[in-house]
Amino acid sequence: MKRLYLTAFCGIALATTGCAQTTLKKAFQKDFLIGAALNPAQFCEADSAETAIVKRQFNSISPENALKWERVHPEPGEFDFTLADRYVDFGVTNKMFTIGHTLVWHSQTPDWVFKDADGKPATREVLLQRMREHILAVAGRYRGKIGGWDVVNEALNGDGSLRNSPWRKIIGDDYIARAFEFAHEADPQAELYYNDYALEDKAKRSGAVALVKQLQAQGVKITGVGLQGHYLLGEPSAAQVDETISAFEKLGLKVMITELDVNVLPTPGQALSADVSERYRMGAGLNPYTNGLPDAVQQRLAQRYAELFSVFLKHRASVSRVTFWGVTDGDSWLNDWPIPGRMSYPLLFNRDGRPKPCFQAVVESARQPSNVKSAAGSAANPATDGHR
Ligand code: G3I
Repeated sequence: MKRLYLTAFCGIALATTGCAQTTLKKAFQKDFLIGAALNPAQFCEADSAETAIVKRQFNSISPENALKWERVHPEPGEFDFTLADRYVDFGVTNKMFTIGHTLVWHSQTPDWVFKDADGKPATREVLLQRMREHILAVAGRYRGKIGGWDVVNEALNGDGSLRNSPWRKIIGDDYIARAFEFAHEADPQAELYYNDYALEDKAKRSGAVALVKQLQAQGVKITGVGLQGHYLLGEPSAAQVDETISAFEKLGLKVMITELDVNVLPTPGQALSADVSERYRMGAGLNPYTNGLPDAVQQRLAQRYAELFSVFLKHRASVSRVTFWGVTDGDSWLNDWPIPGRMSYPLLFNRDGRPKPCFQAVVESARQPSNVKSAAGSAANPATDGHR
């Protein structure tokens, strides 16, 4: 009986103190980097509570919006690096692996980029020149400070074909290869990534594999593929995530989970989408947890995170980073997408900055005997070297 009490007491003590003391970056220090996408209040240190969580828990950061084209290059010849500089300074000062997001995307890119002086579509030559100027100015400015760039973001349709974005319409299919070449020219040491959502769907994944093979055949430098990881409680399956990571590691690439969150809210529209242009109206039953997340859902979320991290840990040799798209539930883009004004709960910290049961599940996944690195594979992941 005494022993039983003692075990129960230790269990509770571990749950309240052990996990509270363990941080995400410590728990995975031999496996991969652990990152978060930051907003200006966090990297400018205006929100001291959230900044403290970032410094304590994470060893990599991504800019949620601060480096997008519309922010840093709003008008022709006009750059505004005010916030971007603060973001990069924060990463450098705190010795975090600092990510650049993103150089070439169809979204959040001002219309002028694709037009000539008369408002007609720009020519291929003009657009290529603009793309090069942008990439050299932005990636060049942070040469040696930003460790890896999402060079091209979301270039594929769901069926694996190339999205007919203004980039493709005007330049042609080779706009992707040119973007990677310009990024390499701007910073030869930086890691260069292709980043997209729903690559766990077979058709889209095949398109991404074909795209990477083509770039590799042309001798274009590509370091890795970012699986955005905007997931749901039930989708994609662990097996799909497993197969997707395998598909890219077979190509000799690093794989990173770049925008991880797990949406617990009802999702009208495409299950695995993260298409920012999708919008739906609020309707009955679409905002079910305004008074907090029920325990049962909290537990499902914890199990889901544990399941996902088991897969990431299985692939620790190729997975170099797992980045959450936000720090606390209150920060998440999922409070406003695809329906504005909902209460979402997709991250590891609640609105008060306290770790949720899913935080514990994630930390514990690193200690699960089935997930712990075997003696044979005990060398540290080279991707995390120098960033612990
Ligand atoms: O900053 C303005 C603010 O001044 C204004 O009052 C307010 C009114 O709507 O808008 C604010 O800007 C919003 C911005 O987020 C900052 O909150 C934009 O409207 C909104 O469109 C923007 O959404 C971002 C979205 O990308 C589009 O850029 C989300 O924060 C960001 O999380 C999301 O991130 C994308 C990744 O870049 C690519 N993958 C998908 C991912 C999620 O959509």
